[in-house]
Amino acid sequence: MPVATPVVEITDLKKTYMLGKVPVEALRGISLKVDRGEFLAILGPSGSGKSTLLNLIGALDKPTSGKLLIDGVDVSTLNDNQLTDIRCKIGFVFQFFNLIPRLTAKGTVELPMTIADLNKSERTKRAEQLLETVGLKDRMDHKPAELSGGQQQRVAVARALANNPRFLLMDEPTGNVDSKTAQEVIALIKKLNQDGVTIIMVTHDQNLAKEAKRTIKVLDGLIASDMVN
Ligand SMILES: Nc1ncnc2c1ncn2[C@@H]1O[C@H](COP(=O)(O)OP(=O)(O)O)[C@@H](O)[C@H]1O
Ligand SMILES: [Mg+2]
Repeated sequence: MPVATPVVEITDLKKTYMLGKVPVEALRGISLKVDRGEFLAILGPSGSGKSTLLNLIGALDKPTSGKLLIDGVDVSTLNDNQLTDIRCKIGFVFQFFNLIPRLTAKGTVELPMTIADLNKSERTKRAEQLLETVGLKDRMDHKPAELSGGQQQRVAVARALANNPRFLLMDEPTGNVDSKTAQEVIALIKKLNQDGVTIIMVTHDQNLAKEAKRTIKVLDGLIASDMVN
């Protein structure tokens, strides 16, 4: 049987930032393979390189050396247009929801679809379905200020799912909400994975981390452990 292509395949990835003339080795040789359907938590102390790793996996930044394949495609070979295309296949969720104040929940979820080949009525229909999936059926016409923190994060998750991403990349998705609201977000993330969505997330939240099926620990820019839960 042919082996399915991993959604992410990383080989000896390194990233050195320059702080003026001082090099900061944020990643010192990371190798990692993530298959479709996985639910991966990336843990590690502050400054260990987690966000750097996530930004590279999301093709938001370029590595200093090493190889990164997304869906089998070597990201280093892509031009700017192709990079934009590949980023559209990734669903990003961050700690701060980054919602546009003027837009309703429905408008927010429709926005990324305007670059896809969908007409207005198809976009609206899909946005409504996604908001229903995240439990916001009765909040479609609300703007961020009219939503709770957990509801705002669920809008952000629905937006991340708009273009049927190959995987979701999340950096501290519960990092900016209270613990009760975090439970809402955790339940949603768990359900998405059960529905087949591949999830790669950085989190400090033990309640969230324990739902993941695999956990890697990053220490000083290296993977210190990689465990199936
Ligand atoms: N843009 C940057 N310029 C210089 N150094 C950076 C930059 N971003 C991150 N770093 C440094 O790289 C290391 C890893 O940072 P980061 O990936 O943000 O860690 P984490 O997300 O685990 O807290 C830290 O030492 C941090 O100070
Ligand atoms: Mg970080």
